[in-house]
Amino acid sequence: MVRPGQQWWRDAVIYQIYPRSWADSDGDGIGDLPGITQRLPHLTYLGVDAVWLSPFYTSPQRDGGYDVADYRDVDPLFGTLADFDALTARAHELGLRVIVDIVPNHSSSDHPWFQAALASPPGSPERARYLFRDGSDGGRLPPNNWTSMFGGPAWTRITEADGSPGQWYLHMFDRSQPDFDWTNPEVRDELEDVLRFWLDRGVDGFRIDVAHGLVKYENLPDTDLTLDANVDATALAPMWDQPGVHEIYRSWRRLADSYAIEGQDADRILCAEAWVLPGPALAQYVRADELHQSFNFEYLMTPWLTADQRAAITDSLAQADAVGAPQTWVLSNHDVVRHATRLGYPQRPGLQRIEGIGADDPQPDAALGLRRARAATAVMLALPGSAYLFQGEELGLPEATQLPDEARQDPTFARTDGKSKGRDGCRVPIPWEGDAPSYGFGPGGRSWLPQPPEYADLAVDRQRDVPGSTLELYRQLLALRRKHRLGRGRLVWLDDQPHDVLAFRVESDEGAVTVLANPGGSPLPLPAGAQILARTGTPGTAGQVDPDETVWLNG
Ligand code: GLC
Repeated sequence: MVRPGQQWWRDAVIYQIYPRSWADSDGDGIGDLPGITQRLPHLTYLGVDAVWLSPFYTSPQRDGGYDVADYRDVDPLFGTLADFDALTARAHELGLRVIVDIVPNHSSSDHPWFQAALASPPGSPERARYLFRDGSDGGRLPPNNWTSMFGGPAWTRITEADGSPGQWYLHMFDRSQPDFDWTNPEVRDELEDVLRFWLDRGVDGFRIDVAHGLVKYENLPDTDLTLDANVDATALAPMWDQPGVHEIYRSWRRLADSYAIEGQDADRILCAEAWVLPGPALAQYVRADELHQSFNFEYLMTPWLTADQRAAITDSLAQADAVGAPQTWVLSNHDVVRHATRLGYPQRPGLQRIEGIGADDPQPDAALGLRRARAATAVMLALPGSAYLFQGEELGLPEATQLPDEARQDPTFARTDGKSKGRDGCRVPIPWEGDAPSYGFGPGGRSWLPQPPEYADLAVDRQRDVPGSTLELYRQLLALRRKHRLGRGRLVWLDDQPHDVLAFRVESDEGAVTVLANPGGSPLPLPAGAQILARTGTPGTAGQVDPDETVWLNG
């Protein structure tokens, strides 16, 4: 809901839609923009502030649309520009802001620029928009030892226009995703122009894909991952988090700010997907003249253990505070195992595993995972700052861990010869109606990934208005969060509780809420006279906070 006040993004709850998998209007088994528009009332029912759409641009879909061939158009799979405009208009009518994805690190190999580069000779201006290099060892071997994030080498050799074996180009992801050369002003101008294109169409902001990857260390040296005190830290990961990215974002911030309207709470925002650890380095992305938000992935990977949770929350808030930014919390997205499944495994100190799961891997305890996911979400939604939700987490959806290998489409699966299962398990189409074919995903009953049978009982229509359902729990927490303005609050740890409990109060101008979360094994008696606002147990034991439960108390 749009509400008055400054800088809406500081405490916004933003819901991520992966367009392939949310709602299909034409029955081809792949979600689309008209499908999203029809289902938008689900988001007002839920009570979020904004929606972030993963890419829907023209693309050969080798990486679910994160391989863009035309940054200024909609892929026919998803609809048309007119469909996009209708979606935005409807969202705004409903009081929802719209954030789109920008993919600036690489284009698709189908992009006209890359096709022109292939047709042009080494050293040409067309090649200079990407990172073409001569190979080593007389051209036979890749120019350096970098590997792709999806497995295999980060370089592919091309055949020159005359048929001879030629140069190599860099792709930190799939070979169909060539990296741009961000030292080239033409690249900078083009991507800023793309931002303007969507801002002019009325979008409220951008989620920036691989925001930490645009600038590479000069001369692309080999990466040396063996830690050596004598080696410059930047040279250890010459493709990530290079200082040069910050100048790009300062420029983007000036551009976004030029769209602000005096006296209106209408900031256009920029949110980084930057897998940068530790927190202080990540906070550099949200300095006052750079981006508004940056996903806190370290928090996402924190196990459900009291000491780890407390340290992650304390440190994250301090790091964001140090640069005057709000923290951006997130537990699930389209790249990681859903938290209802992650938390169904034994929790150990350190960062959690987020890679895909296959039928031959150890399987999670689904009931435990869901119980903990509800409890962890109730911690996240109480925290000061903004929060992102991933489609389906409001239904308590688990990861699909039994997908047949033939169904898998994530390039990671093929590039690692199946060693890494990839990210399809969190991208399975959403169940809307428990009794309908494809659980109401679209007419005709098709679904581009098979939906697990347990999705029937988790469908929206089986949870709506059902007390204690995960959907109703999310609604309740979001409404309370808004009423007490927790996202604008201040967190105070309560040290009068047993050490294995996470106990804090969030105080704002609109009230205070005490949160008692119990990742420990023993029940915690509730304080005398406690007034329960919400609890994540179903139904929960009177007078106590059960293990793996979170309770919100008034005051
Ligand atoms: C980001 C996206 C991911 C994509 C990758 C390459 O990490 O979230 O889905 O595969 O970038 O664009």
